[in-house]
This record gives sequence, C-alpha cells and structure tokens, in this order.
Amino acid sequence: MEAIVFDMDGVLLSTDRMHFEAWKALADRLGLPFDETKAQRCLGLSRMESLEIVLEGSGRSFTAEEKEALAEEKNRHYRALLRGLTPRDLPEETVEVLCELRRRGYRLALASSSKNAPEILARTGLGELLDCAVDGNDVRRAKPDPEVFLLAARRLGVAPERCVGVDDALSGVAAARAAGMTVAAVGFASGAGAGDWNLKSLGELLERCPGAEREDKA
Ligand code: BG6
Ligand code: MG
Repeated sequence: MEAIVFDMDGVLLSTDRMHFEAWKALADRLGLPFDETKAQRCLGLSRMESLEIVLEGSGRSFTAEEKEALAEEKNRHYRALLRGLTPRDLPEETVEVLCELRRRGYRLALASSSKNAPEILARTGLGELLDCAVDGNDVRRAKPDPEVFLLAARRLGVAPERCVGVDDALSGVAAARAAGMTVAAVGFASGAGAGDWNLKSLGELLERCPGAEREDKA
C-alpha cells in the first residue's frame, strides 16, 4: 500500500455529531422524527440526498425550491456550529495517526462528500496534515459512487489498488470498494462488519499499515 484516503466526518473528526444536531433541529421544526438510524443512513450522502431521508414519512411532497430552502436552513445551522471549530477539536489520535503514517512514507488524502470540507480543514489545521483533499465541491456524484475516492487517488498519483480507503459510512465503504481500494471501516461501518478491515479505532491503522517493509524497499 502506498496511500491512505480518508473520509472526514466521523473518521478524522466528530463533525458527524454536528450534522446530526442540525438535521435534528430541522426535523423537529417540521414535526418529523429523526433518530440515529436515519442519521446513519445519511452518512456519506450529499446534503440533498440526506434531506430526502430527513423528509421521509412527512406525508407531503416538497417542491425543488422548498427542498433547496430546507437544505439551506440545515446548512446555516451546521455552519454556525462549525464556526466554533479550532485545532483543539482535532482528536489527538487523528493527529498521531496522520503524522505517523506520513513518517512511514504513505501519501495521505481526503475523500469527503462534504462541501464544507475546505472550511473544516482550514479551521482545524487538518489540511496541513494531508497531501491533497477532494470534497463534495469537486465531484458530481456522492458516495456510494467511487468518484471522490478515484479522484483522490488520481490527485495523489497512486493507483487505487495501492490505496486504503477509510470510512465510517456504508455508502463510503461501498464507494471505496467500487474504486478498487482496500477498505478500512471505522465506527458504524466497522460495527456492521462492512470493511475488509473492521477497525476498533483509527489508531489500529498503524498496525495494518507497517513502516519497516517500506523502508526496506526504499
Ligand atoms: C458527509 C456526511 O461527509 O457530508 C453527510 O457524512 C453529509 O452526513 C455530507 O450530508 C454533505 O455535507 P455538507 O457539509 O456538504 O452538507
Ligand atoms: Mg463519514
């Protein structure tokens, strides 16, 4: 393996909790139920696809304009939560794992469905720990389509077969697999046994991605 391609929300930092809070507030205002099961189905999908899940069971149809306004309402709330992000919100484990993988010679990329990724990378300093980032602004099809993982591999200049894709969502696991990567599942996807590797923590990547044999090759 030469490169590791990471999902962001729920893998490198816990912005998945903020997505939950913002969707829940919208659902509450509309009088719709929104629980962890629905939230898990939203993971990795685009904002508009997630909205469809939030609106399920409403018993009414929404025009395209109404949906745009609802997605915007959720995003305003979400972005207000993001304004409080600082480098201190980057878990120590994330920093340690990224720095150590880089020390071992792996190329590191982001493959996120989020259009807010650039702001999150800048606010937390996460961008400086990665070689390149691909996000929802760069692709036409969200996960489970492999586009975001394939583009990340292309930007790194590494064949997808030489990449590990790390994701916490079933849609992300499917996307990385469709891209031809070895899949390391964390969080929900790991609990579901969806990955080639089902990691208990991000730190376990260090056991799976050794450094010594790479140094031998060099
Ligand atoms: C993914 C999240 O990373 O980004 C999804 O797992 C979210 O829950 C998607 O819907 C899009 O995010 P954003 O920031 O563009 O609304
Ligand atoms: Mg995720």
